[in-house]
Parts: sequence; structure tokens; C-alpha cells
Amino acid sequence: MGGEWTDRLGEVELRIESRRLGDDGGPTLRVGPAGRGLEWLRFDCFDKNPHWHLDPTGRDEVQPLVGSPDPISEVFGMLRSDLPGLLERAGAPSTALASLRSTDLARRLLEAERRMRHRPACLDELDIHRLRQRRSAKWHLHPDDILPAWVAEMDFPVAASIQDELRRFVESSDLGYPLESEDTGLPRVFSERMQERFDWSPDPRRVELLSEVVQGLFIALEAFTEKGEGAIVQTPIYPPFLAAVAETGRRLVENRMIRGGERLEFDLDGLADRIDPGTRILLLCNPHNPSGRVMTQEELDRLAALVLEHDLLVVSDEIHADLVFEGRRHIPFASLGPEIARRTITLTSTSKAFNIPGLRCAIAHFGDARLQARFNQLHPVHTRGGIGLLGIYASIAAWRWGQPWLDEVVPYLQANRDFVRERLAERIPEIGFDAPESTYLAWLDCAALPIEGSPASFFLRNGGIALSGGRRFGGGGDQHVRLNFATSRPILSEAIDRMAKALGR
Ligand SMILES: Cc1ncc(COP(=O)(O)O)c(C=O)c1O
Repeated sequence: MGGEWTDRLGEVELRIESRRLGDDGGPTLRVGPAGRGLEWLRFDCFDKNPHWHLDPTGRDEVQPLVGSPDPISEVFGMLRSDLPGLLERAGAPSTALASLRSTDLARRLLEAERRMRHRPACLDELDIHRLRQRRSAKWHLHPDDILPAWVAEMDFPVAASIQDELRRFVESSDLGYPLESEDTGLPRVFSERMQERFDWSPDPRRVELLSEVVQGLFIALEAFTEKGEGAIVQTPIYPPFLAAVAETGRRLVENRMIRGGERLEFDLDGLADRIDPGTRILLLCNPHNPSGRVMTQEELDRLAALVLEHDLLVVSDEIHADLVFEGRRHIPFASLGPEIARRTITLTSTSKAFNIPGLRCAIAHFGDARLQARFNQLHPVHTRGGIGLLGIYASIAAWRWGQPWLDEVVPYLQANRDFVRERLAERIPEIGFDAPESTYLAWLDCAALPIEGSPASFFLRNGGIALSGGRRFGGGGDQHVRLNFATSRPILSEAIDRMAKALGR
């Protein structure tokens, strides 16, 4: 928990701070009268001896918190079940209890719980030597003299709330089989999260857990189209979209993005002309990788009209929805209306925004029970492979408690985006760069540079920096590279220096 956090519920104040007492410590929640030093309740969720105090400034009855390996969950369980009763026992006046009634207690307690589980993200202090010891592909594919800025994962430590949850599973050897998907609570947490963030209420019964979003693309193509039928993809695109169409024997209906002033635009006029009677499905990526574009309401409405007119099904990959920058807003495609919802499969996960892609857990939501039944018929749960316990509960922790971490990370990413723009303008002004509206990916047009062949190979060879090559993204991306800027400012600066060095600057 970083610094102090307070909230006022009527006459009752909640205060959270981090404390150390001798060799023990952790977050403390104090509950007392607003604006005064008194306390009615105090919860010390310490590492070694977690405990709580009833009336700490009076009788001070102390009790241990031992009912769960997670003292914070025990505390909030007590508060949710009877905060007024606890306050009454602690001697709080009836006016304080009455004042709680006019507050949205459930929401405010959830926010307090999030704050209590949060610790500052320390985004600027990454140690490159520690990063190089990671065993993920990003840090392991190339030798140590190469700086990796390719695959879409962040260099930041994951949220404390997720780390702590994973630690509890590991420390208690709680690594068995998970419950049935519905009973884990993840579908409900997903639905609550979509409601809270995007004003969309997906039905938890229409959720299937997958090991990855890309798996959903493949299965949906197989379940809802025949070989040779057309699948629309807006290129350039995250390469597995193209692989999914090619490897399932479907026909690519390419809807290439076009330049519109300061940014790449979705070519909706061109799309209308390209849809033929054999086109069945639209594979949408919004927010879009690699451009970082976030579709506006107007663009989505136009796309929705085409979808209805041509009786298309939509698979909407919204994995980057939580990484949208100031001035833009993510709108789930399925939220556009009941007719659209009925023909939309939404794919998402916590893996991008909360940086846990190695835990392999994703969500497919079906706007219609028949779509879900068909999907399951073609690929029953066992052929899809089971989802691991850690992925499920890390996703629950992320969506339920991870927002304070994301509130630090997204502005940092946005500042990194601006840093990339400024630094490139200074060092390599020939590179074309449309600042992304979301994600942590910079799609860089290197066509004006004096480079023969693939720019990614050029920068790897001459600058010691591994970028994603644009060719695999289709849509005329051959002269592009994709730079991952989800790292500390010093490392990002080094990345751009290496690109400049490759060009002899
Ligand atoms: C748009 C998009 N979809 C899906 C994925 C991968 O998700 P998963 O690992 O769950 O398949 C990525 C990863 O970068 C992505 O950018």
C-alpha cells in the first residue's frame, strides 16, 4: 500500500496506510469518526501476525485474523457482512451508523479493499539485469547484447494484488484442479468488470473459459464458417488473425486501413465494396493492434450497420480494452444493441492489461446461447485443454482488485508514447509514427529510411534491438516495425538510441 488513502462514508472515515512495527508490518485499515483522531476499528493485515482491534482507543479488544490465508479478504468479509454491527460494538454513535445507509457501501468497500491490496508499481526503476533473468520468450529468445522490444508483454512487475494472490496459492501448495468454470467466479467477475468499466452487462452464463484469445479466433472460424468462406480482417493486424484465416482454410477478405491525416483509419467505405455473398464473419480487433486505434462510436455504428446488412457474425478481440489513453473510450462491440449482441463473440482476457500472458486464461462471451452451444459442440471443453488454477484466480484478482495498479500504468504508458514521438522526431525524423490511442505498441513506418530489406532485421543486426517485423502483420506493413514501449523510460530511451545507432546517428 503506497502512502495514505482515505474515504468518507457519511460520518465514518476509512483510512489506509502502510505500517511497520519491529519485524512485522503490512497495510492497516482504520475506521473512525470523520476528521478526528479516534478509532472504532483497526485492522492490521500484517505479514506475520495479522489481527484486528475493536475500539482501539478505548477497551482495545484484539483478535487474530487467522480464518484465511488472506487476512484482507477476512477483513472485508467481516465489513461486508456487518460493518454497522461492528461499529455499534465499538461504541460508535447511532448517527454514524445511520449515516452509512445513504452511501453505496458495497462499492466503497470494494474500492477500500483495492487500495489495501495495492502497492506502488515502481515503473521507472526496472533493473535490466533482473529482466534478462526472466524465462519468458521476450527475454530469452535473443542473446544478452540484444534489447528485446518485440512481443506484447510489459517489463513492469505485475500488480501487488496479483502477486500476493499467486503467492498464497504457491505457499500453500494449492495447485490442484480448479472448480468448474462457473463455480470459480471468473465469469461473474468478468461481467462485473465489463459493467463497471464499459457499461456493458454480459451474461456470465454465456462465458466459456479458453486458454488464450487466439484459440477463440481459430475455434470461431471453424465453428461458424465453412472452408473457403470469407473472413474480414482489418490489416495490418496482429499476425495470428491472418494465421487463423489461412490455417483453417478460410478466405481472407482484406480490409486494409487507410491513411487519414494524422492517423490510420478503418476503411469502412472500402469494406462495403469488398463484402461478397460468401463473406460470413468479421474478425474485429478493437482496440487495434498494431495501430493502437480505438474505434469511435461513429465508426462502430457504421461497422454495425454493415454487419447487419450483410448478416455477418463478429468475433471481437477486445484484449487491449483496458489500455486506452486519455481522450478515447473503449466501447464493446456487443454493447451496440441486442441485434449486434446476438451475433457477437467477444474475446478478452487480463493477460495484456495486467501483464500475465504466461498464465494462459481468456474469456469468450457469446451474445447468443446457440452460438455458445455450437462452439462447444465443435470443441468440447476437453479438446480445448483445461485452464490452470493460477490463471483463473490471477484473472479474478486482476479484474477485482487491479485497477489502482492500472491507474498508475496507463498514464505511464501514455507518457512513454509521447516520449517515443518526441525522441523519434529528434533522432530519426524520417520514421512515420501515428501516436496510438491505446496499447503499448508503436507502429513505425520506416519506408523513408535508407534500409534494404526488412527494417526489423536491419535494426537487429546493426542496433542490437529486437522489434517485431511489419511483414507478418499484412496490409502493406513490410516497411514497418512494431516497437513495444511498455518498459521504463531509461530502457525505452536506450531502445531508441539503439535504433539511431543502427543508422549511424
Ligand atoms: C489483439 C491481440 N489479441 C490476442 C493476443 C494474444 O492473446 P492470447 O495470448 O490470449 O492469445 C494479443 C497479444 O499481443 C493481441 O495483441
